[in-house]
Amino acid sequence: MPPPRQNILEIEGLTLSYRARGAVVRAMDGVNLVVGDGEAVGLVGESGSGKSSLARVVLGLVPERVSRIEAGRIVIAGRDVTRLTQAEWEGVRGNPVAIVFQDPLSYLNPVMQIGRQIAESILRHTPDLKVAARVDELLELVRLPPACATAYPHELSGGMRQRALLAIALACRPRLLIADEPTTALDVTTQAEILALLKDLRQRLGMAMLLISHDLGIVASACERIYVMYAGHTVEWGRTQAVFGYPAHPYTIGLLKAAQAARNAQGRFATISGDPPNLAELPTGCPFVPRCPYAMAECSRAMPGPFDAQGDAGHTVRCWRYHETASGIAVARPARDAG
Ligand SMILES: Nc1ncnc2c1ncn2[C@@H]1O[C@H](COP(=O)(O)OP(=O)(O)O)[C@@H](O)[C@H]1O
Ligand SMILES: [Mg+2]
Repeated sequence: MPPPRQNILEIEGLTLSYRARGAVVRAMDGVNLVVGDGEAVGLVGESGSGKSSLARVVLGLVPERVSRIEAGRIVIAGRDVTRLTQAEWEGVRGNPVAIVFQDPLSYLNPVMQIGRQIAESILRHTPDLKVAARVDELLELVRLPPACATAYPHELSGGMRQRALLAIALACRPRLLIADEPTTALDVTTQAEILALLKDLRQRLGMAMLLISHDLGIVASACERIYVMYAGHTVEWGRTQAVFGYPAHPYTIGLLKAAQAARNAQGRFATISGDPPNLAELPTGCPFVPRCPYAMAECSRAMPGPFDAQGDAGHTVRCWRYHETASGIAVARPARDAG
């Protein structure tokens, strides 16, 4: 039997809040998420569900003044990093965990040539390396022509900038790459190219990846396992085929239906009925209740689960319908929300 795969990232029951203009916003509430070494994991959810907060807190990048970890812990490569100081975070950033964002332009230095930015990233981790050769190697790895080394960010297209940012991230030889909406700002053709590149890099480098997107199709095509996030909660997770083939949470079911409808209507943006939640004023219990066609009396009392979604090993859902004592008594709700 092969030895069990070590986890590069473990998030356990993590609750993160922001204080903003007098209100407290819980961007993450009891979040569980695991990424195995070398594994490709997807995180999906609509805008404002807390995906970027998760990406940032894993690297100590949430603003300290206004944020607070209220509960839970983050473990990276076996080390508890929940309460690191900024100086200690420097030992995590880049290696073992690197991150790329949606808008490369805000993370690239506008007045420095791309090659030098890659070189700086290399030197931060391996000061004695033959840097020029490694810069060339990294450009080739992300499929940028060698001439890009002397280009400035504004001279590159959006797709090329995203490749440059990837090269900077890969310069640190991360064991886990977090990609937060890496293709969202790009046109459809470039999106597909970057996605193909990410898949290829992950396999060639044996690197784990946490791919974050509001787009189900993107994570489905690139990831072995998927987490679905709603209003700061991870509400369903499991193998991609299980979550997309047999969705268990009413939110996942709604998302998949909406994506199907959007495809039929030729690219209309997928939305589900009801209003997006206000994280500063969440009801007690499951945050999806106001939009849920299956809500029962107990759903408003406490957040359920996690429970087995039944069928596929590891397929987990936080919905009272999967608890054996669920009453099945529906809560009266306006007709427009049903179905
Ligand atoms: N620095 C911040 N200060 C206050 N609130 C924030 C901050 N960053 C994010 N939030 C809030 O946290 C919630 C989750 O945001 P985010 O993590 O960016 O979600 P997503 O990436 O899924 O769109 C939102 O309500 C957002 O307004
Ligand atoms: Mg985001």
